[in-house]
Amino acid sequence: MNDIIAQLEEMRAAARLGGGQRRIDAQHARGKLTARERIGVFLDAGSFEEYDMFVEHRSTDFGMQDQKVPGDGVVTGHGTVNGRLVFVFSQDFTVFGGSLSEPHAEKICKIMDQAMKVGAPIIGLNDSGGARIQEGVASLGGYAEVFQRNVLASGVVPQISMIMGPCAGGAVYSPAMTDFIFMVKDTSYMFVTGPDVVKTVTNETVTHEELGGAVTHSSKSGVADLAFENDVEALLELRRFIDFLPSSNRERPPRRETSDPANRQEMSLDSLVPPNPNKPYDIKELIEKVVDEGDFFEVQPDYAGNIVIGLARMDGETVGIVANQPMVLAGCLDIDSARKAGRFVRFLDAFNIPIVTFVDVPGFLPGTRQEYGGIIKHGAKLLFAYAEATVPKVTVITRKAYGGAYDVMSSKHLRGDVNYAWPQAEIAVMGAKGAVEIIFREDIGDAEKIAKRTQEYADAFANPFVAARRGYIDDVIRPHNTRARICKSLKMLRNKQLQNPWKKHDNIPL
Ligand code: HXC
Repeated sequence: MNDIIAQLEEMRAAARLGGGQRRIDAQHARGKLTARERIGVFLDAGSFEEYDMFVEHRSTDFGMQDQKVPGDGVVTGHGTVNGRLVFVFSQDFTVFGGSLSEPHAEKICKIMDQAMKVGAPIIGLNDSGGARIQEGVASLGGYAEVFQRNVLASGVVPQISMIMGPCAGGAVYSPAMTDFIFMVKDTSYMFVTGPDVVKTVTNETVTHEELGGAVTHSSKSGVADLAFENDVEALLELRRFIDFLPSSNRERPPRRETSDPANRQEMSLDSLVPPNPNKPYDIKELIEKVVDEGDFFEVQPDYAGNIVIGLARMDGETVGIVANQPMVLAGCLDIDSARKAGRFVRFLDAFNIPIVTFVDVPGFLPGTRQEYGGIIKHGAKLLFAYAEATVPKVTVITRKAYGGAYDVMSSKHLRGDVNYAWPQAEIAVMGAKGAVEIIFREDIGDAEKIAKRTQEYADAFANPFVAARRGYIDDVIRPHNTRARICKSLKMLRNKQLQNPWKKHDNIPL
């Protein structure tokens, strides 16, 4: 018996050593943690239950029968984050570059299947050279098995990808189908084809970092939701992020008690919006002042800054925030911001997270770039997402809500549950000056007349009361009461029930 136990311990020690000390040292020299060290930082201490430590590849080509490493390049299992169950796979770059073999894929699929059965998030810590080149199609099949599960799990359990090393070729498509992609700066990259292929095909010279690094994807392409400085920061922030989420679509997000009073007044909000309607202000100031303890977890902060999205809590309950940002493009909606917010709204709705929307939007961004880029279809994504969402929706118009963008931004007409406006809100088809120049075109040469007409139009429409008189706005509230009013509304809406008609699935304008 003792022999068997000693043998077991030996086998475990071999598995823990992955590709060997030399490769572990190389991993550290690059500033990266190993697969197991990452799990150690990510999960609660002592909570990890590992599966399939003894799985080996079955490949015999290219002398592979003599190169077997127990675990085969991926560490899988489950554990807890602040006491809540999560499933995790962590690819081990020290074993064949973390490349994906058939058994490596089977290990990932096993934990995905279990996560689906019990309803818990699936977290991937990706660090892999892609398909195991010695295996060929068996590896490709393995990828597709993972892809299929990503799709079935979408909207059922949260799926988060943390890219902590290379991620190339078809391998980027599993992360792409998960809910969020986080990356680590300088050590991770994602692309469909690498710089060498790019050079051959398009004659462009580009570095790995420029083509698919964390900064590129979190600011230019929008593929990544966040970029972190290093492995430890990334994993600790991932823990914080998971705390906001429910474990599955069958649950509500966890409640976190707070000492921040739900009825807290914030007097400084009364002067947040400048008297001049063309002057910007920072919508993040409003968000931070109304959410619990100023704790706002922003997602995609460096991409499409004209809309701000992220998670926070109000009176202890998780909410998703969507807000136009007057500091960037005056808060206009454009292709990137509509896609960014549309996808986020759908995530919130899938996972029972109420949506709080702050509106200050002068309209859709005009121009050929937008029209040729398909703003009609892309803008419709956000409209579609808000319209189909059945979670509680509370909206506050702080200033402008013009034109189609008024409709889109969680208006009453898209089943907004509670719609508030601040007293200086302007809810109209367009700004007074633009409106007058169209309906009184014959007076354009006469500055005095135009100024008079503009004032008349502003007096008639640049206020929240036209909408309030029709019940499109439930109340005009004092800015300092915003937190209290939202918290009350969310409490009232806690048991909201609303169902869309039965369908196989919708046909969102992709
Ligand atoms: C097998 C691999 C491997 C792979 C790396 N290794 N990638 N083994 N299959 N895909 C091994 C290397 O042989 C090496 O082994 C070790 O991992 C570390 O690799 P290095 O090249 O020394 O490391 P580095 O210089 O950091 O470069 C990392 C890398 C590079 C950029 C990932 O290894 C690379 O380009 N690999 C190939 C990437 C690729 O083309 N993959 C297929 C993509 S197509 P030793 O023994 O020396 O330590 C794809 C299809 C998916 O993935 C389709 C899904 C639909």
